[in-house]
Amino acid sequence: MRADFRSDTVTRPTAAMRAAMLDAEVGDDVLDGDPTVRSLEEQAAEWLGKERALFVPSGTMANQVALGAWTKPGDEIVCQRWAHVTTYEGGAAGFLHGVQSLTLGDRSGRMDPAQVEEAVRPDFIHCPNTALICMEQTHNVAGGVVIPMGEFSAVAAVGKAHGIPIHLDGARLANAVVASGISAKEWTSHVDSVSLCLSKGLGAPVGSVVAGSPAFIERAMVTRKRLGGWMRQAGLIAAAAKVALADNVQRLSLDHALAKDIAERLGVIDGLETNPEAVETNMAMVRVTREGMSAADFAAALEAHDVHVMPMGPDLLRFVTHLDVARPALDVLEAAALKILG
Ligand SMILES: Cc1ncc(COP(=O)(O)O)c(C=O)c1O
Repeated sequence: MRADFRSDTVTRPTAAMRAAMLDAEVGDDVLDGDPTVRSLEEQAAEWLGKERALFVPSGTMANQVALGAWTKPGDEIVCQRWAHVTTYEGGAAGFLHGVQSLTLGDRSGRMDPAQVEEAVRPDFIHCPNTALICMEQTHNVAGGVVIPMGEFSAVAAVGKAHGIPIHLDGARLANAVVASGISAKEWTSHVDSVSLCLSKGLGAPVGSVVAGSPAFIERAMVTRKRLGGWMRQAGLIAAAAKVALADNVQRLSLDHALAKDIAERLGVIDGLETNPEAVETNMAMVRVTREGMSAADFAAALEAHDVHVMPMGPDLLRFVTHLDVARPALDVLEAAALKILG
């Protein structure tokens, strides 16, 4: 049995998604609009508590469209040191938009509001203009943690006090909603734009949305055009994304329970170290402590048992749970780990 814990992006579309794709009403979304894309954008805007949303091919494009909409060349953006936007988007902020990034914080994913306040540049000819503050919820590199509302709103308040917009990389905001019991609308009431991935825990095959005010979306559409992100009969994939958003939010609690279960099972194996208490959503971060064995070595050994996981550092592995793994996959993982380390 294949057990794939590399990412929540590996899921295949469900039967309901495939049926919706077959029946989708489509049009040319560039020429005169695709009705299913419009419908997804309305559904996502409503869920996110924003006036409008825009469908884009990926989470990276959702973030980059937002950066392009909020900044001009020479500006500076303030981001968390390990945020996706600074760590895993190929330097796109500088390459595409000519902005520099000032990064704060450590692998915990946290941003100290006092440091954010200090990062805001004065209105002084020698300094760049602080054009945007970026947050991420849940925080990927930190292990899917939910940034607590107190800190989240305090960072956002710094932006508000200075008239600086806030973009939230909410690729996994749905996981934060389920884990915290705080609605998407409540989280996004603190930010000016938000991206949401439909193809991660929610299980759609392709697509993300970026949401905000009508004026923001008008600018975002220009950036999406420049990035080549317009899609034609995209209703085919939007139909699956609609099912993902309608059906797969609450079930994320199952993924969260499985991730905790992974940490509980692996944490007691000699040669591995993890803290089940730190598992808040669908990720378990596990350290390989066996002498002479790196995270990559352990991942390679697991592959021989058809168990797949992603190293996130020399001794760190990230196990991600999703629609396509269930308890039997955990049994396979546990047995493989015991065999390798026993
Ligand atoms: C927090 C976060 N933002 C954005 C993305 C980018 O999504 P995509 O892979 O669809 O470009 C990811 C992908 O893992 C992510 O973890």
